[in-house]
Amino acid sequence: MAYEIDLSGRAAFITGGTRGIGLACAHLLGQAGASVTIAGRSVQEGEVAVRSLTQAGVSAQFVALDVTSEEQVCETLARSASESGIDILVNSAGVARHRDTTNVDAELWNTVVDTNFKGTFLCCREGARHMIAQGRGGAIVNIGSISGIIANVPQNQAVYNASKAAVHMLTKSLASEFAASGIRVNAIAPGYVRTDMTKGGLENPVWAKIWLDMTPMGRVCEPEEVAQAVLFMASKASSYITGEVLTIDGGYTLR
Ligand SMILES: NC(=O)c1ccc[n+]([C@@H]2O[C@H](COP(=O)([O-])OP(=O)(O)OC[C@H]3O[C@@H](n4cnc5c(N)ncnc54)[C@H](OP(=O)(O)O)[C@@H]3O)[C@@H](O)[C@H]2O)c1
Repeated sequence: MAYEIDLSGRAAFITGGTRGIGLACAHLLGQAGASVTIAGRSVQEGEVAVRSLTQAGVSAQFVALDVTSEEQVCETLARSASESGIDILVNSAGVARHRDTTNVDAELWNTVVDTNFKGTFLCCREGARHMIAQGRGGAIVNIGSISGIIANVPQNQAVYNASKAAVHMLTKSLASEFAASGIRVNAIAPGYVRTDMTKGGLENPVWAKIWLDMTPMGRVCEPEEVAQAVLFMASKASSYITGEVLTIDGGYTLR
């Protein structure tokens, strides 16, 4: 029996949708029929991303948003909900900082925790408020990380790791809380994905060797491979799955 994921008539809001994993999600959800709103801070990157989506036949728009600002998150998601509704929320906005913990300062802590944890929390809260008001349920997919499960090497990034563990637990807590409202909440925990975030590490031969040696499949993940899992979690194909943290890491966390 042929099975096709069809998101026609669904509206997806994707933070961090201007590049990397978020943009790959926007392409795939859009190709499945959803209209997509991508959000990020850089207007220039947002406009380029919307052009690429439109050229691919996706109904797409960009909104400027800094997820660390509660005011901006509230305003932007309210506008999006009133204009198109919000059926699917993908939280991909995130930042990584590597530094030995003894040198971590307030600026690093605030940047990483506010973007990855507080930003994801705020978008989940506002997204769920609108989904509940709309009365037709919804799907939230948070991008966590294997860094929320294991301590990466050789880079030290304790604050990033903890912020991603927080995203995983937030996902489970919200899945439990919102299930009665028909909202499923899941997370994806990718290993090393080829995006701007990992460019420096992959260009460093020492780091790249360690990362790849520790990955049984011996290669990095492409953003589209994460997007496929997000599409699954956003669609009816995962209709009885909630609170799951799905690891996509070429086997990295097996060892
Ligand atoms: N790449 C990996 O290996 C990997 C592995 C596991 C998990 N992840 C997670 O996957 C997610 C996406 O990462 P990526 O690799 O696609 O990184 P990326 O290519 O650097 O993209 C990050 C995206 O987040 C946006 N963003 C950053 N700070 C923001 C803020 N304060 N407000 C709104 N948007 C913000 C960026 O746009 P602006 O800068 O214009 O705001 C951009 O669209 C992150 O949560 C990351 O932690 C990545």
